[in-house]
Amino acid sequence: MREGSPQTIYRKDYTAPEFAVDTVALHFEIHSGKTLVTAELALRRTASGNAPLVLDGEHLSLQSIAVDGRALAAGEYQVTDTNLVVDNLPDDCRLQTVVEICPEENTSLEGLYRSRTMYATQCEAEGFRKITYYLDRPDVLALFTVTVDADLETCPVLLSNGNLQSSTTLDNGRHRTVWHDPFPKPCYLFALVAGDLACVEDSFVTCTGKDVALRVFVEAKDANYCGHAIESLKKSMRWDETVYGLEYDLDLFNIVAVDDFNMGAMENKSLNIFNTSCVLADPDITTDMGYQRIEAIVAHEYFHNFSGNRVTCRDWFQLSLKEGFTVFRDSEFTADMHSRGVKRVEDVAFLRTHQFAEDAGPMAHPVRPDSFIEISNFYTLTVYEKGAEVVRMLHTLLGAENFQKGATLYFERHDGQAVTCDDFVSAMEDASGRNLGQFRRWYEQAGTPRLSLATDYNAENQQLTLNVTQENHGADEPAKPPLMMPLSIGLLVDGRPMLLDGDSTTRVLEVTEQTQQFVIDNVVSEPVLSPLRGFSAPVRLSNEPTPEALLTLMQGDDDSFVRWDAAQSFAAQVIEAASDSSDIDIRFIDAYGAVIKSDIDPALKAHTLALPGEEYLADRASQRGLVDVFAIRAQRQRVKSLLAMHFEHEWRELFTALEIRSTYTAEGAQIGARAMRHLALDFLCHLPHSNFESARDLFSRADNLTDRLAGARGVIHHADAALRKDIIEQFYSDWQHQTLVINQWFSVQATRPAAETVETVQDLMAHEAFELRNPNKLRALVGAFAGGNPVAFHRQDGAGYTLLADTVAQIQAVNPQIAARMLTPLTRFRRYAHGADQMQLALQRLAGLDDLSRDVFEVLDRSLKG
Ligand code: TRP
Ligand code: ZN
Repeated sequence: MREGSPQTIYRKDYTAPEFAVDTVALHFEIHSGKTLVTAELALRRTASGNAPLVLDGEHLSLQSIAVDGRALAAGEYQVTDTNLVVDNLPDDCRLQTVVEICPEENTSLEGLYRSRTMYATQCEAEGFRKITYYLDRPDVLALFTVTVDADLETCPVLLSNGNLQSSTTLDNGRHRTVWHDPFPKPCYLFALVAGDLACVEDSFVTCTGKDVALRVFVEAKDANYCGHAIESLKKSMRWDETVYGLEYDLDLFNIVAVDDFNMGAMENKSLNIFNTSCVLADPDITTDMGYQRIEAIVAHEYFHNFSGNRVTCRDWFQLSLKEGFTVFRDSEFTADMHSRGVKRVEDVAFLRTHQFAEDAGPMAHPVRPDSFIEISNFYTLTVYEKGAEVVRMLHTLLGAENFQKGATLYFERHDGQAVTCDDFVSAMEDASGRNLGQFRRWYEQAGTPRLSLATDYNAENQQLTLNVTQENHGADEPAKPPLMMPLSIGLLVDGRPMLLDGDSTTRVLEVTEQTQQFVIDNVVSEPVLSPLRGFSAPVRLSNEPTPEALLTLMQGDDDSFVRWDAAQSFAAQVIEAASDSSDIDIRFIDAYGAVIKSDIDPALKAHTLALPGEEYLADRASQRGLVDVFAIRAQRQRVKSLLAMHFEHEWRELFTALEIRSTYTAEGAQIGARAMRHLALDFLCHLPHSNFESARDLFSRADNLTDRLAGARGVIHHADAALRKDIIEQFYSDWQHQTLVINQWFSVQATRPAAETVETVQDLMAHEAFELRNPNKLRALVGAFAGGNPVAFHRQDGAGYTLLADTVAQIQAVNPQIAARMLTPLTRFRRYAHGADQMQLALQRLAGLDDLSRDVFEVLDRSLKG
């Protein structure tokens, strides 16, 4: 590995900053190939003593430095690769620096960079230091005034945070805008955009009657694709007023779409920057899932205006303070806008498949990590999704009313401050009067707790005793103290849920001990336990209900999550028991058939009938031993084929009956119907003698991307080479001008479950439409392959591992953040029955590179130490 391992940062070492920055004036002079940044900081010493000022700065070329108007001589400051140090500053002063940077050469997509026709910034978490020398930490809040100069012709649009103060024409074809943000903010929320962009405009009237201008800036070719994002933004603004009493605080709100972007979107104050894939929407370029994702991400970034921007994080260890809470907020928004039951099922399926695996792998960390080398590596499923579950548990434990009081207190008490996860819990504690001391352990303990539930029914007393045991440590870890968690349960008596609390069929038990007993009275006959209703805590249940109990829950429970989960568990048990010589449990087939015929919400029905994914099955298998991806695939395929044949008639009927003849809309009823129809199609494609007529027909007649892709996927994943080739070529020639659609085309090919897909992906990496430096393309092709195609990625000769490792090697110095993320599938090598040695070797080979970035170093280091 690289010489001198990079430094680890510990949460326990936090110290308050020595200086405050009251105001910042930034002046950007953008020229092709060179940008000058002048920064004037009003500094105020906040600590006693005469400590030097240590500013962060990377890849900056310092042109000049002055204090209170006096240029400093060479000996009065020091510049290193990462810092600018100035000694003997007065307690109050103005520091002026001028640096030169080159956005055109910035491939990391962090700091100021160029993407196609525009300049854009990404500063979270520590990218501002690539723009100018500064105290690049979230607990330094300042008022920003930003002046941007650029060529009028190439950069007619110049944006930054806050209000536009002036806009003037300069000499030599240049122009200038000046922006002022009236809210103090940490520099990670700074943003600047300059380029040739079209603007789509709308407006929103707040609850007190203030008019807010809403603008979405995109490349001119995309101007017709902004409507959905704008509608989503308006819904989010209204929802935050209604549910949290939070009214937007400026009279403009801008969104910019950028094609080269490391993540989904960024909540910069009043200037959100979005990955094009998370904002542009049109029936021909966006799937149903895409529409829902855009709405959720627009909401997420908007909600950050309060949970993140007005109240921010003291240090990056507190990241879940804003991310966990904001994910909770956006998921509640989606539940309110659409189907609560469906949203919960989707969130839990995602968490259990991906976050549980993270928590069981080498990158496992608490919701509030204790240490990191590179903070970018900790924008994780644990911080986001598990963090949201932790907030949800507070909601369940305190009840909606107290939770809302707590949130209001939190926003009032900490407005304009940079605070900690503890401050958040304290506000909940103070508003509800409850002691949450034990609950705070959720922030410090990594790993997924296991609960075992055992019931004992006493017919004489009509009492049910529930014995709960929790275990929250890995196999070879020392015991950790027990967590406090809500365990929501129901009881089905004679197949029907009984009333437990007033008119509710749910009781929320508070688990606090390692083993604990709960007694429930007036249970007239032996019940079936409905466990973990609504997935009330992010835990694994170690003893799964019996098939009989699962059947009762599938058929009679009134908690839609438990009904779905029972079906998934039953299906998983059937898959795990499947072998060439055995039949599958007839009770499962009957129950499955009953769901097909039932008239439940089609979206929920599709989720219930979809067999558990290979990744989720791998997670279950990892709880029993090593994961054999080939066995999992074979068993799952066997059950799938059987269901395809057994219900062939039903699938055909559904496929025909669910055809939508009206115009495409991305709204609930249509989305549900399409999901169910595409599931039927998938089964039809699994019939042994399928001629793929339905799939080809759907593909060629589709008037929207969702149908088109479902048809294409059916053929590409299952048909022979000739049929595949036809569709692949047709698709490309029809849609090659639409980057986002071509990314889907890459993904469908990359996830074809066959050994040769390794070569397909290799070939596609040389395709004219592929760009190694564009994160969306990399994720669509290589990411989809490595993370979503187990049998190809784990090909026995190790070619899949080599492909991923080679790709990471190629991009790791170019874009360290993306490279480190792409590595994830290799890092879990210890889980697998086959290929573990080859995966480990691939990691070791990468560790031998001599220009390793900190991001990749940290992931390799943790994985290889394991
Ligand atoms: N704060 C962003 C969000 O969750 C995440 C984000 C966007 C990000 N871009 C990033 C994090 C780049 C790290 C690096 O909404
Ligand atoms: Zn966020």
